[in-house]
Amino acid sequence: MVSSPSSSILCNSPRVTIVGAGRVGSTLAQRITEKNLADVVLLDIVAGMPQGLALDLMEARGIELHNRQIIGTNNYADTSGSSIVVITAGFPRKPGMSRDDLLKTNAKIVVEAAKNAIAYSPNAIFIVVTNPLDVMTYLTWQATGLPRDRIMGMAGVLDSARFEAFIALELGVLPADVKAMVLGSHGDLMVPLPRYATVNGIPITELLDAETIERLLARTRNGGAEIVELMQTGGAFFAPASATSVMVESILLNQSRLLPVATYLQGEYGLENVVIGVPCRLGCGGIESVLELSLSDGERAALRASAQSVRKNIDRAQEILVAIQG
Ligand code: LAC
Repeated sequence: MVSSPSSSILCNSPRVTIVGAGRVGSTLAQRITEKNLADVVLLDIVAGMPQGLALDLMEARGIELHNRQIIGTNNYADTSGSSIVVITAGFPRKPGMSRDDLLKTNAKIVVEAAKNAIAYSPNAIFIVVTNPLDVMTYLTWQATGLPRDRIMGMAGVLDSARFEAFIALELGVLPADVKAMVLGSHGDLMVPLPRYATVNGIPITELLDAETIERLLARTRNGGAEIVELMQTGGAFFAPASATSVMVESILLNQSRLLPVATYLQGEYGLENVVIGVPCRLGCGGIESVLELSLSDGERAALRASAQSVRKNIDRAQEILVAIQG
């Protein structure tokens, strides 16, 4: 006979809440549980949908050899005590739309999600995935009132992974040997830094000519739209879920990975009161430090232009939210 388990702190597995059970959210639930990182609560407003997805994932556990719980719910009370809340809720792009075109539909959804989630998980770290990413991260920071180290946006890891993938394809090398860093906003004004991109330590500027690098950069900038155009309904979700799971992993396992993360800047890079992607060290406290790289004049100007465009959209989002409330 098996004795009933006593409640112990050791029995408490970390819990990650994912708000939005669309393709990014549900794939992220799969990644997190199959990597054995945490239990997952998958929340959506559509009745039955997160419950069905959770059941489907639970039924795969014996095959995938893990014992993580996946709970599907429409009720924020079920998310209580989460260590991390990931917000993926909102509308994806349609062909021909920019990420900024989603501002109007997604601002209210994200603010409500953030307020509901923080009410049940006051100690959580928030990762925002909904587009337009940098603006939605700013709104989450504002809505929760949390210190900036506990609010971040996922984009730089995805944009960098795309750049790395295109470099690997071009050179015919192992993708894991390619390392790159893309800063700035998650949009047309993202700031890739080719001089910091390497294949096992060799700068790509030694391996590819300037014209080829420019072609790969253009494809990276257009990476999300290329997939939206191909799929016609919805956009990328495998790579976005992978990128988010890497951030979740670095926080939960306190790995202190240095990753490009959208964060609220307080004077770094000469920018403030804006969210933009820069290298951050991610550990159990969230953003443990922001690294200020030395940039060339051109790179600095590109980052500033990127920040100005985010700032403009933050102002637009504030007007939209005031109009809704008023
Ligand atoms: C993309 C979406 C997630 O870049 O913004 O595919």
